Amino acid sequence: MASSLNFPLFFTFLLATLLTTSITTNYGTFSDEVSEAITLKRIEITTHLHFYFHDILSGKNPTAVKIAGPLGFVFGSTFVIDDALTEGPKLTSKLVGRAQGMYVFVSREDNPELLMVVTYIFVEGPYNGSSISVLGQNPVLNDVREFPVVGGSGLFRLARGYALAHTIMFDFKTGDATVEYNLLGQKIAFGATAMADDPLTEELEPGSKVVGRAQGMYALASQRDSGLLMVMNFAFLEGGFNGSTLSILGRNRVLDPVREMPIVGGSGLFMFARGYALARTVRYSLKTGDAVVEYNVFVTTSCNAWIESF
Ligand SMILES: *[C@@H]1O[C@H](CO)[C@@H](O)[C@H](O)[C@H]1NC(C)=O
Ligand SMILES: *[C@@H]1O[C@H](CO)[C@@H](O)[C@H](O)[C@H]1NC(C)=O
Repeated sequence: MASSLNFPLFFTFLLATLLTTSITTNYGTFSDEVSEAITLKRIEITTHLHFYFHDILSGKNPTAVKIAGPLGFVFGSTFVIDDALTEGPKLTSKLVGRAQGMYVFVSREDNPELLMVVTYIFVEGPYNGSSISVLGQNPVLNDVREFPVVGGSGLFRLARGYALAHTIMFDFKTGDATVEYNLLGQKIAFGATAMADDPLTEELEPGSKVVGRAQGMYALASQRDSGLLMVMNFAFLEGGFNGSTLSILGRNRVLDPVREMPIVGGSGLFMFARGYALARTVRYSLKTGDAVVEYNVFVTTSCNAWIESF
């Protein structure tokens, strides 16, 4: 006999335990990674990259070319760049990547300000092929400028952070410049694991009736996307299901609108259960990581004795 349980279950990722671990990986002077466990469920890796950016307008092979705007370096001047990023301050030092994108003089004031729309694509070590995207304002005459990191690809997928730029050489005649960059990018770490004991409620509202608890773990098991491994028991407290559990083992790509996860078994009234759960995130806070997820669970059991008791 088949039966289905489809009263809406709401699943809240609420609390996390504090855990302190710190791992530092070194890849020479170009980069280092520090992973810091802020909470058990949100372990973030901070990557610090240090390199030099060479913006060359002069000579036969400029890496910055004006594509629009009036003569000189004035409001409206627009440049496309494919600039070398090197480990040391000299252009001949080891190439670690390229800065590709554009900058536009966007200020009419005396203090020139550039809008930077640039992707920093790296070729060095583990970062080969990964990139970081920067979108920000660059008042070039200031000693240190800060630009937001708005995203990335590869190892920097879902990254956020900031870049600090400091000009170490500027040729007023040609416009050539060498700029030192310190770039800090943060992302949630592959392998981050959390233990959960989250309430399952009947309705969305806080204070709504608790029908069970989700107890188990989830871990970031994908290096390329938001795929979590879920190993979880739903332990029910409500009515005839009080004391019965359902076990979930599956992949949960949390950024997908709806995720399907297999129900691999159960206990009590759900003994021998098979089925699937559909999860849909109703609320998510980027700042805290708290989430409310709606679950619709469909199960088949080989026993029908309990159906009357529901
Ligand atoms: C980076 O990756 C490209 C393409 O996969 C490869 O040709 C190149 O040798 C790699 N460079 C380094 C420094 O590993
Ligand atoms: C569920 O079962 C436990 C232990 O058997 C009992 O203490 C509790 O009152 C029951 N809850 C409900 C809502 O029936």
